[in-house]
Amino acid sequence: MYILGIETSCDDTSAAVLFNNRVLSNVIADQEVHRLYGGVVPELASRAHQQNIVPVVDTALKQAKVTKNQLSLVTYTRGPGLLGSLLVGSSFAKTLSLGLGIPLVDVDHMDAHIFAHFLEDEHQQRHPSFPFICLTVSGGHTQIVRVNNDRSLSIIGRTIDDAAGEAFDKAAKIMGLPYPGGPVIDKLAQEGDPFAFSFAEPRIPGFNYSFSGLKTSILYFIRDQLKTNPAFIENNKADLCASIQHTIVDILMKKLVLVVRESGIKQVALAGGVSANSALRKALSEVGTREGWEVFVPRLGYTTDNAAMIAVAGHMKYHSGYRATLDLSPYTRQHAD
Ligand code: KG4
Ligand code: ZN
Repeated sequence: MYILGIETSCDDTSAAVLFNNRVLSNVIADQEVHRLYGGVVPELASRAHQQNIVPVVDTALKQAKVTKNQLSLVTYTRGPGLLGSLLVGSSFAKTLSLGLGIPLVDVDHMDAHIFAHFLEDEHQQRHPSFPFICLTVSGGHTQIVRVNNDRSLSIIGRTIDDAAGEAFDKAAKIMGLPYPGGPVIDKLAQEGDPFAFSFAEPRIPGFNYSFSGLKTSILYFIRDQLKTNPAFIENNKADLCASIQHTIVDILMKKLVLVVRESGIKQVALAGGVSANSALRKALSEVGTREGWEVFVPRLGYTTDNAAMIAVAGHMKYHSGYRATLDLSPYTRQHAD
């Protein structure tokens, strides 16, 4: 069956067409407008989604060489995300499914990041089998999830404050780097020494994360250095990026190891925007070899927000017999929050 996916939870308008789990197109229009403000401005995001949604869906259909009448299923992100942005995608998806007389399936954005592992294209065919552990790291959420099967996911650990992506973005902002900071830090860190500077790691018991202390520690450290050397950031940019990245990855991996050891599960996956990070991917592979895990990282095009992951997650829900009704409203926070 041909499936349309629609993702508008934050600042990327995306539409994808799948043939079962195979990606035929995955169009992403990112919104330049937010760069001026160093972060996403919700009102501007929903307006840009309104402008983008029709051309983006149209382009996705054209690239896939599929007409709207060939579609059998419409899937969309119901939440979590920005309310105005979610409303644009959900209204569009509902209208289209109603107009075409085909079923509709709503998808949870964080679950979709995980199910991106089940997408198939010429580069990606291998996927984890149930149950597996997934470290889902995005701009808004950080979770360690036990994926029991395609309908049952248990969150074992989560951040109690900032998400890992937020830690990257806020650290970048402190250094005066552009938004979103994660990919910029990743790039600059390639030339830096990860052990040049050290930052305090949180001591949170159990499987939960905390990243707000790290942000404060980076802020105070840089502020103190600037007092004696106004060019401190400029002169140490690569080392700062490498050290910050190393600390975030270290925090993420330590808890993941604890959870995986306790679970006895040996299949471990990464998902979400931060899973694009080269140091995190490398750490997973090294730790995985040491611990005897079989590791899975999504292909780079499917790490940050995209509609292909929405379509595959929706397709899996559809197969389990689920159908959405038109009265569903978006949710801004994660279910269990
Ligand atoms: O999953 P995502 O696209 O959006 C949300 O659902 O939030 O994640 C976006 C986050 C941002 O914080 C961004 O800085 C981060 O993913 N990110 C990265 C990299 N690429 C994206 N962080 C570190 N290294 C990267 N290469
Ligand atoms: Zn996301």
